[in-house]
Amino acid sequence: MAQKSRETFGSRAGVLLAMAGSAIGLGNIWRFPYMLGQNGGAAFLLMYVIMLLVFCLPVLISEYLVGRRGASNPYRCFSVLAPGTGWRWIGLLAVLSSACILSFYCVVGGWSVKYLVESCMNGFTAGQNYGELFGAFIGNAWKPLVYTMIFLGLTGLIIVLGVRKGIERMSKIMIKVLFVIIVLVVVRSLSLPGALDGVRYMFVPDFSKVTTSVMVAAMGQAFFSLSIGCGTIMTYASYVRKDENIAATSAGVAFFDTLFAIIAGLAIIPAVFAAAAQNGTAANVEAGPGLVFITLPGVFSSMPLGRIAAVLFFLSLLLAAITSAISLMEVVVSFVIEEMHRSRGRAVLAAFLLCGGVGVLCSLSFGPLENFRLFGLGIFDFFDYLTSNILLPAGGLLLTFFAGWHLKKDNYLDELTNGGTIRIPHWLCCTIFYLVKWVAPIGIALILLNCLFF
Ligand code: TRP
Repeated sequence: MAQKSRETFGSRAGVLLAMAGSAIGLGNIWRFPYMLGQNGGAAFLLMYVIMLLVFCLPVLISEYLVGRRGASNPYRCFSVLAPGTGWRWIGLLAVLSSACILSFYCVVGGWSVKYLVESCMNGFTAGQNYGELFGAFIGNAWKPLVYTMIFLGLTGLIIVLGVRKGIERMSKIMIKVLFVIIVLVVVRSLSLPGALDGVRYMFVPDFSKVTTSVMVAAMGQAFFSLSIGCGTIMTYASYVRKDENIAATSAGVAFFDTLFAIIAGLAIIPAVFAAAAQNGTAANVEAGPGLVFITLPGVFSSMPLGRIAAVLFFLSLLLAAITSAISLMEVVVSFVIEEMHRSRGRAVLAAFLLCGGVGVLCSLSFGPLENFRLFGLGIFDFFDYLTSNILLPAGGLLLTFFAGWHLKKDNYLDELTNGGTIRIPHWLCCTIFYLVKWVAPIGIALILLNCLFF
């Protein structure tokens, strides 16, 4: 099969930054803190770290490896590596999952555009009911749609500029800006009286809180946060030069991703406890998806320098969301370019229309379509639940089957060590391989079955 020569990333740091830029996003800043709050604090964090190391890191390494070896979009990757087999359907599943994620992701991306605009124009004043304001905004019939389209449009624009000029350059700048800003917010929030209770809540586990539903949530969150299981990493890996150290880059991505999640937690949870201490109420960390958007404006409004902190925070949230949305859209776009032979511009337009269309439905499910249910969930919640807890783990599971059983050990180790040119201890390579071949598939399958049938 004739392959056009593909663009590659320009530098080594560029790959790490672009992958970290994909991984670090709303998943860390919007989703992680509220999942942590809903699932028992430190107990969830502990499960999250275990899931990450035992299941998700091996999946990440495998996805990276398969993507680099196949050097094309997820669908073609499998056709190249396993011609004439059914494996290529995983690739198609990956493209579909990415489109599903982007469809609700752009809605939350739109909310962060709105909150950035709001914090710049008006700021947040004390004494407002931010829960009500948030509810009124997302329930509005057209306002959130406008913001969703702005967010998706920005994402498409960056993608049209191409891999090196667009994605790499944007990721490089944004991820550094994000880090600085969010550390500033952490310092601010830790210095508030009463914040220490929040730190304790995050790091001192109550083991009675470890239940199977916490495990399902932690695994789903780890898949979502690392951007694995739906071809994102595979697509980026296809732009990577052959001399990259796969295991080291993957470990780096997982490390920075977790670091950002914990930092985001530290920016949010202690601030919630501090505000509660001030008002003499119990800390409401279980606010759910609204946590960032409901609790923080209140927190910002009642703290010194809150206006600036709010602008910086929502700017960083938006930046993080865009680098991740870019990676999701790129999966769909590279598929349309290479399988349907369309130009990059047209492919972006197609992705925009498809995900924007479903995104509109997701957004409306907080307002006019509130009563429309899919399997008992609203449209937004349905896509969120379906992707994180089912499609991504299923994609990861199939991928470990492919990497562990189809590629075979020799090929896998060859790819890990770049044909023996980089030195990785043999025991480490073997440990990774056996995690991929046995431990991850069995563990993921058990949790997936639990989630589906219990
Ligand atoms: N990981 C990103 C976040 O934390 C979201 C994301 C980007 C994603 N690409 C993905 C999630 C692929 C799952 C699969 O916000």
